[in-house]
Amino acid sequence: MSSKLQNFQHKSRNFWSRKRCFWTGLVVLIILTAIAIPVGVMFGREKKTTPRSSVLVPLYVYPYPGAWDPLYTAIASHPKLQFIVVVNPHNGPGAGSLPDGNYTREIPRLNSHANVQTAGYVSTDYGKRDTKLMLKDVDVYSNWSSHSLGMDGIFLDEVPTQYNFSTVRAYEQVSLEIRSAPGLGPDSLIIHNPGTIPDARYLALCNMTIVFEGSYDTYQQHNLSDTIKSFCKDSGCVRNSLAVVVHSVPPTIDAKVEKSMLKDVRKLAAGVFITSLSTDYYSSFGQSWGAFVQDADA
Ligand SMILES: *[C@@H]1O[C@H](CO)[C@@H](O)[C@H](O)[C@H]1NC(C)=O
Ligand SMILES: *[C@@H]1O[C@H](CO)[C@@H](O)[C@H](O)[C@H]1NC(C)=O
Ligand SMILES: *[C@@H]1O[C@H](CO)[C@@H](O)[C@H](O)[C@H]1NC(C)=O
Ligand SMILES: *[C@@H]1O[C@H](CO)[C@@H](O)[C@H](O)[C@H]1NC(C)=O
Ligand SMILES: *[C@@H]1O[C@H](CO)[C@@H](O)[C@H](O)[C@H]1NC(C)=O
Repeated sequence: MSSKLQNFQHKSRNFWSRKRCFWTGLVVLIILTAIAIPVGVMFGREKKTTPRSSVLVPLYVYPYPGAWDPLYTAIASHPKLQFIVVVNPHNGPGAGSLPDGNYTREIPRLNSHANVQTAGYVSTDYGKRDTKLMLKDVDVYSNWSSHSLGMDGIFLDEVPTQYNFSTVRAYEQVSLEIRSAPGLGPDSLIIHNPGTIPDARYLALCNMTIVFEGSYDTYQQHNLSDTIKSFCKDSGCVRNSLAVVVHSVPPTIDAKVEKSMLKDVRKLAAGVFITSLSTDYYSSFGQSWGAFVQDADA
């Protein structure tokens, strides 16, 4: 009997302490939830609003043995990051039907990576270059493919920004040639480099347009985000079709500032290249190359 009573009291105490425990638990849970949800939303939103952009590499680096190693290292250690590599032997494909032995050794290595798209450089001199010569360059790159040097597309440099009927016709012709070239694949990538926002009618002739190519100082002076937003509102362009190239980033700049600039660019454009080099920006890998690739993949 007494043992039963004790047992009852024990149960009863246990009941109350359990109840208190329940309410304390609930309060703690509510507090934790109140903290966790905003933090989760913050981080969740962070991830969603900073999509990865492809690293657009103007590879004007001569491939003497080992010269492209920083690129291979970046490509291999960031398999989720896409690299668009502009191959430029001689301000174009060069005079011969094939580039020299250093190129023929290295290009297949580039092409062997699943996260690399290669594009052959073609100079266009703001529409002043003879269209026949541009078409010939496209054909030379297309022919490379029969020697395991296939390009996935063409990079057209110095595209004008102003609309001019005959100029646009010439670029149209070049685009048609690229898209029908058997050696450039069925989905060939066409990149235009006006270096600034062009007349919207050029956008339809390519897959990607470099809407800013300039120094860090110029980038800072321009309200790029607003300019691009209003341009896209009028022209219907999308992030996927835009690229941004910023050079001459001062080496003294705070890493946080650089990261935040890259984050802003990633929101605006699907292609990005940032370098600290302030002369011959594309002829070597600058000091900032490794950190830039790291941040592009973050
Ligand atoms: C490759 O580059 C090296 C170093 O610049 C040079 O000595 C060599 O002649 C080049 N090879 C070819 C086939 O051009
Ligand atoms: C590309 O190859 C084809 C077939 O071999 C040839 O007729 C053509 O002349 C080549 N084009 C160029 C620009 O070298
Ligand atoms: C358009 O470009 C062509 C070829 O470069 C040039 O001759 C012509 O004057 C230009 N037209 C205008 C209106 O700028
Ligand atoms: C480039 O654009 C053309 C035409 O819209 C498309 O067919 C092709 O797949 C695109 N290429 C890439 C690599 O996105
Ligand atoms: C960019 O432009 C917008 C309006 O177009 C303005 O509100 C904003 O302050 C500008 N930002 C800078 C950094 O100039």
